[in-house]
Amino acid sequence: MSATVITVTSGKGGVGKTTTTAAFGAALALEGHRVCVVDFDMGLRNLDLVMGVEKRVVYDFLHVADGTARLSQALVRDKRVPNLYLLATSQTADKESLTPEGIDHVMNLLSAEFDYIICDSPAGIEHGAMMALHHADHAIVVCNPEMTSVRDADRIMGYIAARSRRAQSGLPPVREHLVVTRYSEERAKRGDMMSLATIQDILVMPLLAVVPESETVLRSSNAGRPASLDTKSEVGRAYRTAASRFLAETRHGIPQTSRAPQMAGAGFLSALAETTQRGLLRRLFRHA
Ligand SMILES: Nc1ncnc2c1ncn2[C@@H]1O[C@H](COP(=O)(O)OP(=O)(O)OP(=O)(O)O)[C@@H](O)[C@H]1O
Ligand SMILES: [Mg+2]
Repeated sequence: MSATVITVTSGKGGVGKTTTTAAFGAALALEGHRVCVVDFDMGLRNLDLVMGVEKRVVYDFLHVADGTARLSQALVRDKRVPNLYLLATSQTADKESLTPEGIDHVMNLLSAEFDYIICDSPAGIEHGAMMALHHADHAIVVCNPEMTSVRDADRIMGYIAARSRRAQSGLPPVREHLVVTRYSEERAKRGDMMSLATIQDILVMPLLAVVPESETVLRSSNAGRPASLDTKSEVGRAYRTAASRFLAETRHGIPQTSRAPQMAGAGFLSALAETTQRGLLRRLFRHA
């Protein structure tokens, strides 16, 4: 078996990556796939809390990487969703102990066991975030409807394009998918927050989900329950729809760049205008 690797990333911190990893991972597992969510946020582990399995973590990623534990000893099985597992990160402050070789080893072991490996990235563009992106086949770019978050998401897309294993080995590029979280239609209409249309003008990639701002998210994470398990909430529905949309979009496994279909649909002139506008926005942002 060879797993598909999905990295959940952002530039800015605190936008909802860990929430998305848990909710999207649980939703994919509910669709019948074998899923492992992996915490790459070394020293700041919290995916285990959001998944509600923190008391059952004995071994972590580093133990498997250095051979102290077998993968089967470190994986924590979810008791509610069949086929859903967690590999926790280490609490050590020494982030450099996560080496490319150690990660390759663990990812190879996971790849033989699962359909999907979902990597929860730390924020930013430091070592840990690059390690989490390295093996990605898909990137879920999470952003909030605010300028700083959108600008940082745009920057991370540049890193995905240049620094992933796919980019460096000349493979088809990492496919990017956008998740906008903490969105409020009402506030966007009032002009208090960026509208979805503006975000999509800047971050040109397929939209997987718009997750509303909701206090049910905090309730879910305090209860250690991935938000998608709450079938009655809008947040739960948004993440479940994201999983089925992802499966539908990738069913045939056709390698493509994420921007190509939008350009093809729009025609050459509008594609050119879009690219020019995008370049302009990038320049404006970088010099802001
Ligand atoms: N849709 C939402 N509505 C309301 N609150 C949300 C929503 N999504 C996430 N949050 C809250 O935002 C905070 C940050 O979420 P989360 O930990 O998932 O972000 P993160 O991107 O993983 O952060 P970090 O960069 O620190 O790892 C949490 O308190 C979470 O409960
Ligand atoms: Mg996080």
